[in-house]
Amino acid sequence: MDASNIVVVEQISKSFGFTVAVNQVDLQLKKQDIYGLVGPDGAGKTTLMRMVCGLIVPDAGRVRLMDETPGKPERAGENLGYMPQRFSLYGDLTVMENISFFGSMYGLDRKTIARRADEILELTGLSNFKGRFADNLSGGMKQKLALTCSLVTRPALLVLDEPTYGVDPGSRKEFWKILYRLNKEGMTILVSTPYMDEAELCSVVGFMDRGSVTAVGSPARLKSGFRHRVLEVRVNARDPEMFRELSDTLDYSFYGDKYRVVVKDVEAGRLALERRLAEKNVPGALIREIPPSMEEVFIFLAEKEVV
Ligand SMILES: Nc1ncnc2c1ncn2[C@@H]1O[C@H](COP(=O)(O)OP(=O)(O)OP(=O)(O)O)[C@@H](O)[C@H]1O
Ligand SMILES: [Mg+2]
Repeated sequence: MDASNIVVVEQISKSFGFTVAVNQVDLQLKKQDIYGLVGPDGAGKTTLMRMVCGLIVPDAGRVRLMDETPGKPERAGENLGYMPQRFSLYGDLTVMENISFFGSMYGLDRKTIARRADEILELTGLSNFKGRFADNLSGGMKQKLALTCSLVTRPALLVLDEPTYGVDPGSRKEFWKILYRLNKEGMTILVSTPYMDEAELCSVVGFMDRGSVTAVGSPARLKSGFRHRVLEVRVNARDPEMFRELSDTLDYSFYGDKYRVVVKDVEAGRLALERRLAEKNVPGALIREIPPSMEEVFIFLAEKEVV
């Protein structure tokens, strides 16, 4: 086994009644990885993360959390921070009181909590809101407070289950800046997300579908393994139906005056697009091949599983 792994999950499974939530999954996190777990609703992400945190006992397989210090290869599970999918902050407690509550649950004394709270509130940008009731924070700030609470133990491994779900794009960006800072300081992060732009920010991405991790790799590697090609069409026309039901194309999407079309073959695809543009009397189109997005990679990974 690779010595730099700090999380090693081996052939782990969990069922609830007849539902196989997680099916023989292997997972490895190296120190300072930002491992992104993506996949459709019900894929098993939460169940897998809860098993990594030791909150659910697996039916089979095992989770090992490794110590970074030489000679002490295995440790129990201290140094772990967890932000659950539906985190529970106490709305009628202030920001500081929430942190104190979580800190004391972990057995930290008041002094330690106060000192750490100052550091992490600074990092998460909530220093000026210590006295505000959690109920009166914006959605993005609530998310940051939940993160702050999960950091009070100064974990070496941070497990975040869809931490930015439903938060506006600006707050999501800020949240990820904080994650990058924590990561730079040495923290290893396991994070699930429904957002493909966030998957792009991870060092490793695991795609989960119906209980299994079906593809793993860096965003660059997953993209280079994409078996189709993508053509971008820039044209001065906005028509949602532009490339509908077109032979030699597999899928398309559009953003403003740019269309992205997934094709099997670049030349056949290009001809089909040109024919359609001519039929629709749209002149002056610029067509070029571009790299696939994570979104495209995952749409096709998910479809491949269905077939
Ligand atoms: N405590 C439970 N009791 C019964 N079934 C459960 C329980 N927890 C999860 N499941 C089922 O296990 C499967 C995996 O659920 P899980 O919550 O792990 O998926 P997920 O990928 O986190 O989904 P989402 O993206 O919606 O959060 C689902 O079919 C779910 O209904
Ligand atoms: Mg979940």
